[in-house]
Amino acid sequence: MEKVSINAIHEFCPQAMYLYGTYKEDGSPNFGLFSWFGYCLNDGVRIMASVGSGKLTSDRIRAAGVFSANLVSESLLPLADYCGHTMGYDAKKMDVPVSVEKGAVLPVPVLSDSPWTYELEVEQTITLNGSDIFICKIRNVLVEKSLPDTDKPFDERLRSAAPAIAFGGGYYAALKDATIGKWGDWKTGV
Ligand SMILES: Cc1cc2nc3c(=O)[nH]c(=O)nc-3n(C[C@H](O)[C@H](O)[C@H](O)COP(=O)(O)O)c2cc1C
Repeated sequence: MEKVSINAIHEFCPQAMYLYGTYKEDGSPNFGLFSWFGYCLNDGVRIMASVGSGKLTSDRIRAAGVFSANLVSESLLPLADYCGHTMGYDAKKMDVPVSVEKGAVLPVPVLSDSPWTYELEVEQTITLNGSDIFICKIRNVLVEKSLPDTDKPFDERLRSAAPAIAFGGGYYAALKDATIGKWGDWKTGV
């Protein structure tokens, strides 16, 4: 493969998207769209969430120390795109039809229509120039009730969750057909 060097971008690097839910000071919910999200170990699995400073989501996470991360499914894309392009400090942002419930464990707003929601508690904050990385303890995972049913093939459950992914300025379906391999398929060599 012949290679060329380019600027520091992540155009071809797929990212799952989450709507982070926080309660505003007046107790009403706010959701922002975030994709710079990952996992790490710190006495168990933790979630790393990179959030730009000055956003309502950032300010509310700092104030409350808790938030929800709701996986964006294909059917949630219109809401996700809207929440990713409308500032929470616009008082009308959440004047849209959205079904919200309370977390099962933490006082966080949860999107009723997201198939997979983390309830997160901030354990450590790494403050960078213009953003924070929140290292979070997973206090609960709320999922659509058929997803943990291991009697059903994983592909089928993944298709029903239908997570959307982002890259190159577009949104894509994470899975169209079936898996292209299982972990360990090539562990003895390629
Ligand atoms: C696809 C997509 C992914 C995004 N990911 C992030 C992210 O990881 N971190 C971030 O700070 N902003 C991200 N944004 C921008 C925020 O969604 C945007 O600033 C939004 O207004 C934040 O909501 P809030 O003002 O209610 O907090 C993303 C936007 C889009 C469209």
